[in-house]
This record gives sequence, structure tokens and C-alpha cells, in this order.
Amino acid sequence: MRKKVSIIGAGNVGATTALLIVQSGIADVVLFDIVEGIPQGKALDLAEACPLWNSSSLIKGTNDYSDTANSDIVVITAGFPRKPGMSRDDLLHANAEVVRHACSEISKTSPTAIIIIVTNPMDVMTYLAWKTTEFSCKRVMGMGGILDSARLTAFLAWEFNVSPQDIEALVLGGHGDDMVPLSSFTAVKGIPIANLFTKKKSDALIERTRKGGAEIVALLKSGSAYYAPAAASSHMIKSILLDEKRVLPCAAYLNGEYGIKDIYMGVPVILGKEGVEKIIEVKLSKEEKSHFRTSCESVRKLIKKLSL
Ligand code: APR
Repeated sequence: MRKKVSIIGAGNVGATTALLIVQSGIADVVLFDIVEGIPQGKALDLAEACPLWNSSSLIKGTNDYSDTANSDIVVITAGFPRKPGMSRDDLLHANAEVVRHACSEISKTSPTAIIIIVTNPMDVMTYLAWKTTEFSCKRVMGMGGILDSARLTAFLAWEFNVSPQDIEALVLGGHGDDMVPLSSFTAVKGIPIANLFTKKKSDALIERTRKGGAEIVALLKSGSAYYAPAAASSHMIKSILLDEKRVLPCAAYLNGEYGIKDIYMGVPVILGKEGVEKIIEVKLSKEEKSHFRTSCESVRKLIKKLSL
């Protein structure tokens, strides 16, 4: 049986994720949006690219949730992106409505699906999706840590003038301004960055990572980043569909791990066919622990605002 991935929101992140999935040929895709014509037009364009990519994937654009029925994975990118000067948190109420509605539809049409949330503020939206669908927390997760880690990797690669393939970076915590980049777990070919850069230099790169999304928003003027967010989402989709069991930082439900309960936070997890198959606990320094807690508090504040 071919795998089915539904993408809710046919905007920049959604359509680019659809592109990466059909291009790789690993699943059929349904692209859903509330705006008529957009998902149909983008899906048709992508379908016509498939012969050029030697891909047998099928893609359909729709405004009807029944077309998403029995999806293996549903990726939620629907909502509003940031404008210059806005934080991810400013999107809270508008995007909560969108995510709540999408999740209640999906829980009816695809009761066994794994859900990946991309819509910001992502950690809060993931908690909302879990509450709304009442799915097992293993099957609801958020995309953030892979993207933040990829950004730090890119900055380190330029700074050190090496291939990003030889860099390993790990960013935990919420996908917000107080994310927690772990310099002790960030290395160039296994060599911890403390051996290669001054603290001042690595702090500057970490600071750029924290503001990585805002840097792009400021340049684009309207809209936010989408190529890297879509690439990060497609990594998660692939690891689940192919049961690769990759270790990736994702927003996962913490039930005592890292000494924290009842919240979605970015942590390293093993991603396989069951979804979040295991949360990996890394030993954090005192300073990292305190950053992690601050990041949790920011997410909790937003969860409270939604009265969840
Ligand atoms: N149901 C389905 N689709 C919706 C709904 C809804 N209720 N409301 C809005 N949409 C669609 C819009 O019509 C639009 O096509 O969601 C899409 C969002 O696309 P973009 O505006 O291009 O935004 P994008 O850059 O893709 O970002 C989407 O991902 O990274 C996050 O912060 C970002 O929250 C934002 C989300």
C-alpha cells in the first residue's frame, strides 16, 4: 500500500513540503487549503513536474477534508506567518483557531495518523493539537529543533569553512527566542566547538540562530522562512514513513523527562513508524538546565493564554 501524507495549508511551507515529498517519491500527497484553487493549482503544477523527477507519487489539491481520509501522516502548516516586528507568539490566537479546526477534522478522517505541527507558535500549537485530537502523544509532534539545529549548522559551516555535513549541532527547548542551543553537543567532525572557536564567536553564532527566523522575516518583508522549514519537515516525514529511527530534535510531550511534565518541548527523539518512539535525555549543564526551564515557562505562559 502506498503511504499517504496530507498537508494542511498550501502556502509556502506546505507547498514546499509537498514538493520535497513527491519529488522523493516516498508517498502520495494531498494538499489542503481553505482558499479555493490554490491547492488544486499547486498540486497540478507539482503533478506535472513528477514525470521530470521520475516520481510515481500522486498529488491532489483539495478544499475538502474527506480527501485527506486515512492519511499516514498529516502535516499542519495552515495559519498565518509572521510579519516584520512580530514574534512567533503574536500569532497565537489566530493560529490556534486554525489548528483547532484542522485537528478536529483530522481526528475524524484520519484517526490513526501521525501529526506533525509546523504552524507557529509551534510548541503551543502542538500541545493544542494533542489536546484536540486526543491522540497518543507519540503520534503528535512539532517541527522546530531540526530547523534551529540546521541554522546553527549552516552558520558554523560558513564560519569554519567546512561542509555542513561534518557538523553536528543540537538545539533544544521551545522553538522561540529562548531556544536552547547546546554548545557542548555541537561539534565539527566530533571536535567540540569550544576547541575551535572563542566563546565570543560561538555565542554570536548561537545568537544569530536564536534570531534566525526573524532575520529572514525582516528580509522578506512579507512572509517567513519556508525552504528550510519544509526541508526539516520532510526529514521527519521520511524518518517516520521509512521507519528510519533517526535521532532528531522535535517537539515531544514531556512526562517527567528533563524533570518537566505536561508540555511539548524540543528534545532529541527517535522517530520511527510509531512516531516519537523514545525521548533521549541528555545531561545538561546547570546553565543549560536553567535556559531549558526558562524556555518551558515561555511556552507554558502561552498555553495558559489559550486556557488549555
Ligand atoms: N485551513 C486550511 N488552510 C488555512 C486556514 C485554515 N483554516 N487558514 C489559513 N490557511 C492557509 C492559507 O490560505 C495559506 O495558504 O494556510 C496557508 C499559510 O501559508 P503562508 O501564508 O504561505 O504561510 P507559510 O509561510 O506557509 O507559514 C505557515 O508555518 O512556519 C510556520 O510561522 C509559520 O505559522 C506559519 C505557518
